[in-house]
Amino acid sequence: MSENSFDVVIIGGGPGGYVAAIRAAQLGLKTACIEKRGALGGTCLNVGCIPSKALLAASHAYEAASHDYAAFGVKIGKVEMDVAGMQSHKDKVVADNTKGIEFLFKKNKVTYLIGAGEITGAGTVKVTGKDGEQVVTAKAIIIATGSDVTPLPGVEIDEEVIVSSTGALKLNKIPKTMVVIGGGVIGLELGTVWRRLGTKVTVVEFLDKILPTNDGEVSKTMQKLLAKQGMEFKLGTKVTKAVKKGGHATLTVEPAAGGASEEIKADVVLVAIGRKPYTDGLGLENVGIEKDVRGFIKVDHYFRTNVAGVFAIGDVIGGAMLAHKAEEEGVALAELLAGEHGHVNYDAIPGVVYTWPEVAAVGKTEEQLKAEGIAYNVGKFPFSANGRARSMNETEGFVKVLADAATDRVLGAHIVGPNAGDLLAEMVMAMEFGASSEDVARTCHSHPGLAEAVKEACLAANKRAIHT
Ligand code: FAD
Ligand code: NAI
Repeated sequence: MSENSFDVVIIGGGPGGYVAAIRAAQLGLKTACIEKRGALGGTCLNVGCIPSKALLAASHAYEAASHDYAAFGVKIGKVEMDVAGMQSHKDKVVADNTKGIEFLFKKNKVTYLIGAGEITGAGTVKVTGKDGEQVVTAKAIIIATGSDVTPLPGVEIDEEVIVSSTGALKLNKIPKTMVVIGGGVIGLELGTVWRRLGTKVTVVEFLDKILPTNDGEVSKTMQKLLAKQGMEFKLGTKVTKAVKKGGHATLTVEPAAGGASEEIKADVVLVAIGRKPYTDGLGLENVGIEKDVRGFIKVDHYFRTNVAGVFAIGDVIGGAMLAHKAEEEGVALAELLAGEHGHVNYDAIPGVVYTWPEVAAVGKTEEQLKAEGIAYNVGKFPFSANGRARSMNETEGFVKVLADAATDRVLGAHIVGPNAGDLLAEMVMAMEFGASSEDVARTCHSHPGLAEAVKEACLAANKRAIHT
């Protein structure tokens, strides 16, 4: 095989692409990964999951030191926030993580090609980098080019006054006021960061609830808890216009169903109404790769596009636009290409919102089960009845488990509470193993532990709760 020919060439070095590259190389395939950003890790590591969690951790620490430690008898003087310090923490975390992937590429002998990849023909990709062009050939091409911000007509993003998530991660001073358009995951996470630092945050959501894809009880509970923290909500409301003047913006909003409009002024406006597939400059038209009406690349069960030898994974094929979903697809596809039997269980993909309390969910919501006519039992347990949560002053929220009424198989789990994202893992595993809620209920959990709330919810689903 010549230097420029590979078994697998992957376009995009995000969680889908870089994980596929490492797994393919581990399985003995000669692999290259093309990335144009200048750093590996994609949206997630550079402008998504990791920097947002770094800011959430820093702002959580500030809020806890300002308001929560006194209740434990910890006395501190005046607490101050150094935004530059917070941003350098974030930048260091991002840099360390992206360099970590470069190390993993070297360790696994993945060729890292820096530049923009364009599919020019069957099995051929042109890479345009700062030093010019080169052509590589591959038996299999994997498209893992991810997604980009969905724009809102009339509200033009300048990444200073009107920002996307990328701009909201980089603000170098604390705005007095912020309007977040979209009460989804990005809006609530990044709105929370700045609300904790003192910004008055108003969330404008088109639908009549925040986190619209979550279980209804979870959405309602989170709205109540976030409102108690000081976030304001304008639900069932649409933004029709944004005018920028003198370093702030004036938004015109009106009821989604139509009616009288009003104006809201804000120092910063965050547009967070979803993300769209990113395929610019990829050359899909050169080989005739099909997309659906929303622009997602169409693939079959084995991640095959309509063109032989071209595959796609991650955000660019749609479904849950989550890093771990892209990673699972990367591993599964690499294994399929190596002749193994990789697969992804889409019924057991967790989703976590890293507000505080956190929101974590897997499987069906009550609304979905009702719509599908599936009979189910509900087991619920509040953190206010959990000894560990009480000792931590973290009593808000609950664990809710949904189990099939006939078989007791776990169909869904929804947690609002401290470390909900980590607590959910055992319910994801339960679903992966086809466990019943009684299986979890009969598993010994260490005491005192937050995970006992998960066990108790499963006990409740079997009408044998001990602590409620
Ligand atoms: P991406 O990560 O988007 O990577 C695609 C890469 O391809 C990019 O680096 C891009 O530069 C490159 N590329 C594109 N075209 C070309 C080309 N022609 N040539 C070369 N390179 C190209 N998900 C979670 O699971 N948990 C979270 O906490 C979370 N937080 C998020 C916070 C924010 C603010 C945002 C915006 C997203 C968040 N996500 C989170 C979503 C997560 O980032 C994505 O689901 C994930 O990054 C998708 O991975 P991917 O590999 O499909 O694509
Ligand atoms: P989202 O889909 O989570 O939320 C968008 C929200 O905007 C929805 O509530 C929607 O009803 C609302 N909306 C749509 N159009 C609107 C309009 N014109 N006016 C007002 N509201 C409108 O999308 P978001 O928050 O932008 O996140 C994008 C993606 O990134 C998501 O798919 C998410 O999975 C991923 N992500 C994941 C995170 C995590 O796992 N913790 C964190 C951040 C992002």
